[in-house]
Amino acid sequence: MQTADIRARWLDFFGDRGHTVVPSASLVSDDPTLLFTVAGMVPFVPYLTGLVPAPYPRATSVQKCIRTLDIEEVGKTPRHGTFFQMNGNFSFGDYFKEGAITYAWELLTTSESDGGYGFDEKDLWVTVYEEDDVSFDLWRRIAGLPEYRIQRLGKDENYWSTGQPGPAGPDSEIFFDRGPAYGADGGPATGDDRYVEIWNLVFMQYLRGEGTGYDFPILGDLPKQNIDTGMGLERVAFLKQGVENIYEIDQIRPVLDRAAELSGRRYGVDQDDDVRMRVVADHVRSSLMLMSDGVTPSNEGRGYILRRLLRRSVRSMRLLGVDAPTFTELFSASRDAMKAAYPEVESDFTRIHNLAFNEEETFLRTLASGTSILDLAVSKTQDAGVKQLAGDTAFLLHDTFGFPIDLTLEMAEEAGLTVDRDAFNSLMLDQRTMAKADAKAKKTLLADLSVYSAFRAKGETIFTGYDYLDTDTTVLGLIVDGVSVSSAVIGDIAEVILAETSLYPESGGQEADAGSIVGNGFDLEVLDVQRPVKGLVSHRVRVRSGEVGVGDAATSVVDSEYRRGATQAHSATHLIHAALREVLGPEAHQAGSDNRAGYMRLDFNWNKPLSAATRTEIEGIANNAVRQNLEVSTRIMPLDDARALGAMALFGEKYGDTVRVVEIGGPWSLELCAGTHVTRSSEIGLINVISESSVGSSNRRIESLVGIEAFNDLTTERAIVNELTSNLKTPREQLPERISELLASLKAAEKRIAEFESAALVERVPALLAEIETIGDLRVLIKDVGALKSSDDLRSLVTTVRGRIGTDAAVVALAANVGGKPAVIIGTNEAARQHGVKAGRLAKVAAGVLGGGGGGKDDLAQGGGSDLGAIPAAFEAISRSLWP
Ligand code: ALA
Repeated sequence: MQTADIRARWLDFFGDRGHTVVPSASLVSDDPTLLFTVAGMVPFVPYLTGLVPAPYPRATSVQKCIRTLDIEEVGKTPRHGTFFQMNGNFSFGDYFKEGAITYAWELLTTSESDGGYGFDEKDLWVTVYEEDDVSFDLWRRIAGLPEYRIQRLGKDENYWSTGQPGPAGPDSEIFFDRGPAYGADGGPATGDDRYVEIWNLVFMQYLRGEGTGYDFPILGDLPKQNIDTGMGLERVAFLKQGVENIYEIDQIRPVLDRAAELSGRRYGVDQDDDVRMRVVADHVRSSLMLMSDGVTPSNEGRGYILRRLLRRSVRSMRLLGVDAPTFTELFSASRDAMKAAYPEVESDFTRIHNLAFNEEETFLRTLASGTSILDLAVSKTQDAGVKQLAGDTAFLLHDTFGFPIDLTLEMAEEAGLTVDRDAFNSLMLDQRTMAKADAKAKKTLLADLSVYSAFRAKGETIFTGYDYLDTDTTVLGLIVDGVSVSSAVIGDIAEVILAETSLYPESGGQEADAGSIVGNGFDLEVLDVQRPVKGLVSHRVRVRSGEVGVGDAATSVVDSEYRRGATQAHSATHLIHAALREVLGPEAHQAGSDNRAGYMRLDFNWNKPLSAATRTEIEGIANNAVRQNLEVSTRIMPLDDARALGAMALFGEKYGDTVRVVEIGGPWSLELCAGTHVTRSSEIGLINVISESSVGSSNRRIESLVGIEAFNDLTTERAIVNELTSNLKTPREQLPERISELLASLKAAEKRIAEFESAALVERVPALLAEIETIGDLRVLIKDVGALKSSDDLRSLVTTVRGRIGTDAAVVALAANVGGKPAVIIGTNEAARQHGVKAGRLAKVAAGVLGGGGGGKDDLAQGGGSDLGAIPAAFEAISRSLWP
């Protein structure tokens, strides 16, 4: 049975039994406590906790999941995958234990010809939570299982939560017995790989608090008794396909085979090699799926996990003896195996491939440089006569260079060294503790949301802002400092919940509307508008006057100027996005945006700067679309229909079953978008691209001014140009040439001036030489030469004069007025220095009198200060120090 068939049977079975079929959410979870979607229930958490009323009583999905906690197990056991698909059926206060057990047993044991999975009843075992007599009895009654095949286990086995505060409950797990060839008798309680868990039925009825592992408090009951189940699609696939493990199923095996082919080694010959091939197959697939959901490699959060998967793949290929890049081949194989279920891995492949390939190239270089650092550390260790490489060296290589510890171990071993694993592990532990503390800080969000759930339970906030700027409505709630209150008075900062609102809440890259909420006796300035939980809009306001109370009639008022600007900017973003894709190709996919009145910013996947010509071309296409006065239409339709039309969805965004599609000029620009838009493109007015820059290694950013702001910016530029044309008396189109000419002639003139000046300087030398006095054995020139352009000129005078004196001991001390300040430079020759005359010391003496700093070498030194009138006194001090 192919994986796709197992998936289809699942959705049909539960769809036929009244479950709403919900498409998989993104791997990028929007639950703030989770990095990734780790289970089928993650997208439904708000329904399980009651934060948001469930839109349907029962649902089913096949959810993409990522779990990397057991990454070291991958390839070693038959069932650990970092990416996997979880088939789930969910009940939100509808059926409970009996329903869940009945459905599970029916689907598993119904024959294949009747649409089931056709498992033999005698191969199935179950476990229940030790205190859960109800489930025990249900398994006896519904499945007719003998008592010995219903095992009771503790909280560590039969209690489930995401590992974070939230919904939790006892569970019952179903196992398949692979037979005596795979281990000892005794059922799943033996913990043996012989018994493979295929399905977990969780009876979600409690709210759990903070805690680690299985040690957490139960805070109370959930509002309803729910069902959350998860069947591992890959696990059922490997059992139904008669292969040994999940890495050999139809969706994964082709990558494994390609890895074997590239390495020239055979699968099934050497155990270590087999593990490496399975790691490659698993990690390449996980990376492919992560990147198709918009994750890009980086050094933190999700990006770091992706980077780790990619690097472990490179590393495993290396251990299979392949040093050359292989990702092009491996990712193509994984794409072909996954595209039937996830067409986006094919349509988006160029972008995904480029990301993977860049990462591979970089890591291969890292491996090369890390190797030389390791070699150095190894030889130092050997020179010191030590047999163990320090733990902090291994940690540094790991942490800073991304050099995997197993590689360090292996290479150290080749050099006859061990590695101080204890020190390494303790450094790793410190780092993890820090990361955990960081994650904990993020969790407080969960508690803060609870205040909104009561309001959300009363219904959705209706958004009227697509059609109206003002809406008459009622104040449903007021929140001050996270607490629901009955009124707020002048000066208060409060959050307002309205029944309807025309004010746009920040989302999809469009910033919140500016505006106000007014009513009889109050005026509220809107500071921000957000959707803290799905379906509920909250307005943060400052009470400008009066007092507002819950139940008051109120009008939401959008600042029309602001809205017009934000709307123009958002439509401009769609045009720029379409233009980018037209010029660069479909890989230039939007990665983020920001739209507010007068300004738009769009980040897109691309890894090199755009040329000036390309930038101008994109700007031209977008502005041409403005001039064509294209029709902008918005339609609501099922997500699948929108995808079929080719509408672009944003990574990491969650879409409901029905979506809003914004179309500009037909299919040219077709996006899923909840933002506000102009009705015809000409209303945008003008798009003025002001910059193009990089954000990280894989994204670029385009910024533009839009509408009146674009015009204002151009008029500023025009004023500058006008001033230039009139000052330079040159027509506009000749300005660049004229300015180049001017710059060239200025440079030539400066060069000539410099020549004149140095000639003039040289001409002064004979007169200065004539003034040299001989005092004792020493030839001396101490003189104020008046104003000079720079101290460089003064220095060159000193050295020229000194050079002309010959070999007699000589000292030359010249002072000048440089830019209104005194400067003294003193030079001595070899013979003078032998007499102990040192320029540096004399410069210090002079500077002391001039009131500044001074110093330098024995042969040439400089002093300065601020008082020109002090030059004679400085000279006297020099003389005194020469002839004390
Ligand atoms: N949420 C449950 C699990 O992931 C079904 O095992």
